[in-house]
Amino acid sequence: MVQITVEGKTEEQSFECEQDDTILRAALRAGKGFPYACNVGSCGNCRFQLLDGEVEHAREDAPAWGERDLKRNRYLGCQAHPKGDCRIKLRFDDAYTPEILPARTEMTLKAKSTITHDISEFFFELKTPTPFLPGQYALLGLPGVDGGRAYSMSNVTKEGSEWHFQIKRVPNGAATTCLFDRVNTGDTIKLDGPYGTAFLREDAPRDILCLAGGSGLSPMVSITRAAAVSDKLKGRQIDFVFGGRATRDVCGREFLEELPGFGDRIRFHAAISNPGPEDADWDGHTGFVHDVAHEIFGDSIRDKEIYFAGPPPMAQAVQKLLFDLKVPPEQIHFDEFY
Ligand SMILES: Cc1cc2nc3c(=O)[nH]c(=O)nc-3n(C[C@H](O)[C@H](O)[C@H](O)COP(=O)(O)OP(=O)(O)OC[C@H]3O[C@@H](n4cnc5c(N)ncnc54)[C@H](O)[C@@H]3O)c2cc1C
Ligand code: FES
Repeated sequence: MVQITVEGKTEEQSFECEQDDTILRAALRAGKGFPYACNVGSCGNCRFQLLDGEVEHAREDAPAWGERDLKRNRYLGCQAHPKGDCRIKLRFDDAYTPEILPARTEMTLKAKSTITHDISEFFFELKTPTPFLPGQYALLGLPGVDGGRAYSMSNVTKEGSEWHFQIKRVPNGAATTCLFDRVNTGDTIKLDGPYGTAFLREDAPRDILCLAGGSGLSPMVSITRAAAVSDKLKGRQIDFVFGGRATRDVCGREFLEELPGFGDRIRFHAAISNPGPEDADWDGHTGFVHDVAHEIFGDSIRDKEIYFAGPPPMAQAVQKLLFDLKVPPEQIHFDEFY
C-alpha cells in the first residue's frame, strides 16, 4: 500500500493506493471526488500532474495521453499505477464523489440471452454482493484481454447480488469476442465497480427522456426500469428513444413492455438511420436519434431530465443539440462509449 498526497485548490488531502490499483480508482474507493468519465484512457477527464514520485502508465497508447503530457509530467488517473508514495496536483470535485464506493470482486456467468443479431444480455452473480445506481457501469476483467473494459448494467438491484449487462459484439473486438465466444455459463471473471455519474436522479422534478444508440441500450434500460417503479418519480412521463442503423438493430421495447405504465406514462420510440431494401416494411422513425428526438419533442426537450448513452458520434450529436437548445447542463447525464 502506498500513500498518494493531493495538492488541490485548498488544503492537502491523501489516500492509500494498492500498487496494482490505479490512482483514480483508489481515490474513488477512498470516497474522493476525483474527476473522470470513461475509466479506460479515452476521455482525459482524469488527467493530473505528478509532482513527486513515480508511476507506471498502463496504456501507453491511451487515446487521451501523449508526448506532450509526458513532457509536462501529466498522467491519466485511470491508467497510472504508483510505484511508491506520490504527490500529485489535482482539484477534487464533489460531483465525482461516489455514492457507492467501487470495489473489486469476481462474478460468475449464470446465463446469457440474445437480444439482436449482435447484442446479447449477460447475467452474472457476484461473489461479494455490491449495489449500484441505475445507469452506472463496471470494469470487466476478461481472461487474455489487456486492460478492463467498461460495460453498463441493465438491471436494477438493491443488494447487488446480480449484475446484468447488455453488450454489443464488436467485430474482432478483444473483450466482446472473449465474452461472446469464450466465457461460458459457470465461468468466473473479474469485476470492478460501480463507476459513473450518469445515474438516475430521483429528486429531479421533470419528465424523463432516455436516448440510446446501439450499445447504449443497457444503462437506459436500467434507468427506465428504476424510474418506472420509483415512488419519487410517480406520474413522470418517461420517453425512451432507441436508434439503430437498420430494422434488425432495433431493440429495447421488450424490456419496457414489462414495466408498469408502459404505453401510457412510459413510451418507446425507435428510429433507424440507414434504411436499405430489407427495411422496406419499416414504419417507425427514420434518422439519427438526436434528430428524431428533436422531431418528436421539439423545444420541450428543454424541460426534461435527459439521459443518453452510445458511441461517440451519437453522444457528440446529442450534446450539440442540447447545447443549441440551451438545456441546462445539470439536466443532462451521459456516458460516451469509447
Ligand atoms: C463508460 C462506458 C460504458 C460502456 N458500456 C457499454 C455497454 O453497456 N455495452 C456495450 O456493448 N459497450 C459498452 N461500452 C463499450 C465497451 O467498453 C467496449 O469499448 C466495446 O465493447 C469494444 O470492446 P472490445 O474489446 O470488444 O473492442 P476492441 O476494439 O478490442 O477495444 C476497443 C475499446 O477498448 C479500449 N482499449 C483497448 N486497449 C485497452 C486497454 N489496454 N485497456 C483499456 N481499454 C482498452 C479502446 O480504447 C476502445 O475503447 C462502454 C464504454 C464506456 C467507456
Ligand atoms: S477517465 Fe481516465 S481517460 Fe477517461
